[in-house]
Amino acid sequence: MHIEDQPGAPLGVTVEGFDHTTASAADIRTLKEAVYTKKIAVLKGQHLTPEQFLALGRRLGRPETYYEPMYQHPEVPEIFVSSNVPENGRQIGVPKTGRFWHADYQFMPDPFGLTLIHPQVVPAQNRGTYFIDMGAAYERLPEELKKEIAGTRCRHSVRKYFKIRPHDVYRPISEVIEEVETRTPPVVQPTTFTHPMTGETVLYLSEGFTVGIEDENGEPLDEELLERLFEATGQLDATFTHEGIHLQTFEKGDLLIWDNRSLVHRARHTTTPEPAVSHRVTVHDERGLYEGMRAA
Ligand SMILES: [Fe+2]
Repeated sequence: MHIEDQPGAPLGVTVEGFDHTTASAADIRTLKEAVYTKKIAVLKGQHLTPEQFLALGRRLGRPETYYEPMYQHPEVPEIFVSSNVPENGRQIGVPKTGRFWHADYQFMPDPFGLTLIHPQVVPAQNRGTYFIDMGAAYERLPEELKKEIAGTRCRHSVRKYFKIRPHDVYRPISEVIEEVETRTPPVVQPTTFTHPMTGETVLYLSEGFTVGIEDENGEPLDEELLERLFEATGQLDATFTHEGIHLQTFEKGDLLIWDNRSLVHRARHTTTPEPAVSHRVTVHDERGLYEGMRAA
């Protein structure tokens, strides 16, 4: 296995020669260390079946199966499928996923540490995923803003981007909303926490899932504070040219692993609809989201 920094990018490494069937425990530690410190690892030359992809994921942690069945791979439910390419006339997975800034499972009580993506059909034109390192973004915040959010907490919910399922057709929207709120009630997390693997301070919020901010007593704060945080971190930049935004491209045979604690990401806008299919596996590593949230 050979790891080197991605040329010309502030984050990311490329990894050549990784084989999950023969990698030693030390190789796995080295790889995970690279993901935590450099945020994204692009494993080259991976051409894995769904079963093999899941096996690779299991080398890194405990897989989390997505809670909504319509996203699951028909044979390997631990795989989340994003696809706009029907197979034999049948929709597999869900099209147009993640076109908003978010961290995966941010709206759930116990988000996982690592996300793995294995692109299957790579668009010719608009390939890639946008990322913002929210550890670096916190560092860049003006001191007054850092002071203003000290001790505050954010509320996260899937409500803005919950996707209507086939069986929701003809249901009253109020009933669907009520189901979302009952099944996935909003979760409250500290606005910043210490990354348990790197010690850096992470600003944990996203335009897609963060719906409120409150003080240490649980009193809601003005939403305008959230807007300022989204703005400062680059999440409101429709041109994607903000200094904090990194476009990670990929090609067939790549497998991306990223740090889901400190990165927010967003699928790239496509101007022309192009076929795109990707498989995702998400895993819990040895720690909770932050120290004290979940026993190791
Ligand atoms: Fe995502």
